[in-house]
Amino acid sequence: RDAAIMAAELLGWYDRHARELPWRVAPGAGSAGQRADPYAVWLSEIMLQQTTVAAVKAYFTRFLELWPTVEALAAADDGQVMGEWAGLGYYARARNLLKCARIVAGEHGGVFPDSAEALRALPGIGPYTAAAIAAIAFDRPETVVDGNVERVMARLFRVETPLPGAKPELRERAAEMTPHRRPGDYAQAVMDLGATICTPKRPACGICPWRDDCRARAGGVAADLPAREAKKPK
Ligand code: ADE
Repeated sequence: RDAAIMAAELLGWYDRHARELPWRVAPGAGSAGQRADPYAVWLSEIMLQQTTVAAVKAYFTRFLELWPTVEALAAADDGQVMGEWAGLGYYARARNLLKCARIVAGEHGGVFPDSAEALRALPGIGPYTAAAIAAIAFDRPETVVDGNVERVMARLFRVETPLPGAKPELRERAAEMTPHRRPGDYAQAVMDLGATICTPKRPACGICPWRDDCRARAGGVAADLPAREAKKPK
């Protein structure tokens, strides 16, 4: 079926089944003019770079309590921020977090840039995080590709090429599917689909909003995709 129709179908599912996560506004609120706070979206995406959703939740809530705005974080004591970060790991992220907050507060008047390109110029924000913030905070039609999205696309289009070689094709497929209507909710909807239904093992194809479109499901190979390059013997 048409990508726009499929995106609308997924958004309908998301409106009913989105995970309630502390950095999200209610699904669909974006189309009602309400957007997530870019500072909160940025903070959550930095924390989620190498840490699971379950582990991030409490840290995210604590940081927002201590430093509710980017100006507050920019003025924070470095040692206190590093102390609160303890347990999340990858401390370079915390140092870049402070650097970025100080640039946004000092040079951008406390306002996060609203394009992926401008976001990428900030410390700690790579292509993935820039796309995620632009989509989720500013509803830009950026394509957000993480492991969840790669798995969903590999199955939907039955891409049998193993990872990591399949990455460019999966990114291309993901880009073709990205809608111009509610791209921020769509980005999070694909993540949720991958996290809750299109799971690595035993995917719940029977309740998937894309079950009738999925080529891997039609061929009975959903659980076998994406394929992975065999590890080279050491
Ligand atoms: N992983 C990275 N960003 C995420 C988000 N916004 N929601 C859920 N999982 C994520």
